[in-house]
Amino acid sequence: MTTPLIAVLGSINMDLVTTTDRRPDPGETILGRAFTMVPGGKGANQAIAASRAGGRVLFLGAIGTDVLAPQLRAVLTESGVDTTGLRTVEGPSGIAAIVVDSGGENSIIVVGGANARLTGPSAADRTAVAAADILLCQLEVPIPTVEEAVRHARDNGTTVILNPSPAQRLSRELWNCVDVAVVNRGEAENLGSALDGVPHLVTTLGADGARHRGPDGAAITVTGPSVDVVDTTGAGDTFAGALAVRWSQGPAAAIRFACAAGALATTTLGASASIPWRAEIEAASATGSGGAHH
Ligand code: RIB
Repeated sequence: MTTPLIAVLGSINMDLVTTTDRRPDPGETILGRAFTMVPGGKGANQAIAASRAGGRVLFLGAIGTDVLAPQLRAVLTESGVDTTGLRTVEGPSGIAAIVVDSGGENSIIVVGGANARLTGPSAADRTAVAAADILLCQLEVPIPTVEEAVRHARDNGTTVILNPSPAQRLSRELWNCVDVAVVNRGEAENLGSALDGVPHLVTTLGADGARHRGPDGAAITVTGPSVDVVDTTGAGDTFAGALAVRWSQGPAAAIRFACAAGALATTTLGASASIPWRAEIEAASATGSGGAHH
């Protein structure tokens, strides 16, 4: 098995995580159980997940000049992610205020900080995207930056995997550059027919695994191992990163591996802290189901 080279363009945040019995209603004050700070951000989570799952990964993103920045850089390097494409921009880093309830469900508010100031890909970023096997993106950085990167990937034969999260309207030109879209149920509903022309659509289904619809319209559903859920934050990102690593093995094998990775990511609190390593994923993926055609 060759090791794919994956360029991840996206956000990196410090997650400010509060655990509570339940999430507050509007106007209500409740007492929380605990507070912790864990590096996250959809881009960084996906880069870390791909690296821990066995990929060679380069992260293209931005941190600020604040006290959080060194910890954000460190979490990438400690997971083996190449940070030569990580820019430092003046001002605060990105943060996410997250509330996790006793059922493991979360609510998240992201304040973009440096991520919102990630301008178009540099010459070095373009070289990296062209050299990569896969470009993996989400939508927590400016859309024009994503558009330029995916166009460059398409022009250079790099496979584009887009996790259009948080869901928003995108140009038809951008969608035409996407080879694989990875969405959850809510995003699938929100994006509707925009997803129709994407050759491979992968929809994550939480505890029910994930579904793949290919270019010929045929669909399969793959389930993952069942686990005790502590916190779902970052599970979708872990799925996307692991999927990218195994995509060349075909959708069914890649999704089975990704389902196991995503399930394991729900068993510990915190986004980056919960992302599993390859050996753990391989052990867990032996217990999912292969792929039911329907
Ligand atoms: O997908 C989970 C991530 O969304 C969190 O880590 C948070 O930073 C937000 O970007």
